[in-house]
Amino acid sequence: MLFDPRPKTSRAELFDREDELRTLDRFAERGDPLVLVLGIRRIGKTSLVRSFLSDWIGVYVDARGVRTRADLFRVVGEGLSFSQRVRRLLRGVRGVRVSASGVEIKWRGRDSISLAGLLHELGRSGKRVLVVFDEVQSLRPPISVEVREAIAYAYDNVSSVSVILSGSEVGLLRDFVGIDDPDSPLYGRYALEVEVKRFSHDLSVEFLREGFREEGVEVGRGIIEEAVAEFDGIVGWLVYFGRLYVDGMRDLGRIVEAAVETALRELRHLRRRERLVLRAIAEGARTWSSVRDYVEGVEGVTIPKASLTRTIKKLERLSIIRNYEFLDPVYERAAKRLGRGGGAS
Ligand SMILES: Nc1ncnc2c1ncn2[C@@H]1O[C@H](COP(=O)(O)OP(=O)(O)OP(=O)(O)O)[C@@H](O)[C@H]1O
Ligand SMILES: [Mg+2]
Repeated sequence: MLFDPRPKTSRAELFDREDELRTLDRFAERGDPLVLVLGIRRIGKTSLVRSFLSDWIGVYVDARGVRTRADLFRVVGEGLSFSQRVRRLLRGVRGVRVSASGVEIKWRGRDSISLAGLLHELGRSGKRVLVVFDEVQSLRPPISVEVREAIAYAYDNVSSVSVILSGSEVGLLRDFVGIDDPDSPLYGRYALEVEVKRFSHDLSVEFLREGFREEGVEVGRGIIEEAVAEFDGIVGWLVYFGRLYVDGMRDLGRIVEAAVETALRELRHLRRRERLVLRAIAEGARTWSSVRDYVEGVEGVTIPKASLTRTIKKLERLSIIRNYEFLDPVYERAAKRLGRGGGAS
């Protein structure tokens, strides 16, 4: 069902994305060691990579929310449990117990196994194994270091394992990999990139029509056009709209309102100055100096040049803005509501 809010996991469920799947299949066939799948929030990265994996021997690891080593090995264990072919590769490996209920990993103490060790074992059969780490840019040291070092180990030593990293904070994900950073173990390697793009207007309309058809709900062309104008081809929002509409919320204004509230909750996690810069841009500041004027006017203090530039760069690395424009119209609406002084109003 297209309006299922969970990520899609099979190619049959996936709407469009043929080009992206073809590109990923080609990389996998060639055995490219490292691929990045990049795109803003709700654009369909997880659905793309999980559906792609369904035709391969694949491991999917969701790094969102991982704080400790125990968390890390729990999600890795879950990722290894999914597929029977993967479980088979791990039978008899020291530190790993494979049973009908899944894969257990001993990650500390005697007879334990490291993440690099697991990637090594996955590669031993020589069959191509694809390992996806989703949202790794959200990891913090020392976990992020351990993951990066394991990826670098696989890159250099395990030719049959390909690693795919996907994430919504595109700049932060590139920083995580650190190809240009002499201090990164992946320094000087190369990574291929696949960008997950928003649907065109026509494709968005088709997506909604198809989704409503599946649900057996009649919807006029007018509201579909209006919804596409609001949500701008961002498939996660189209699903959000479709789901709420099907469930009985027939007022587009209310649905947009609920979406904006969701975005606002995320923006409230940002620092005060970051929120203020977003608000300046949402209010129409399109240059560095107009953002500065706005922020200084609100705060009543002078802001060092480098400090403001750093804040703007950070917001770009988070994939919220680019060139003083929001990448998602829902976040732009939300940012207008970030109160003066940065609090919520
Ligand atoms: N190609 C697609 N066809 C049908 N539904 C899709 C497609 N891509 C994404 N979706 C739906 O859109 C929503 C968001 O998708 P998904 O979670 O894959 O995006 P994401 O980019 O990983 O989001 P996030 O940044 O929040 O992790 C889900 O409801 C998913 O089912
Ligand atoms: Mg995702």
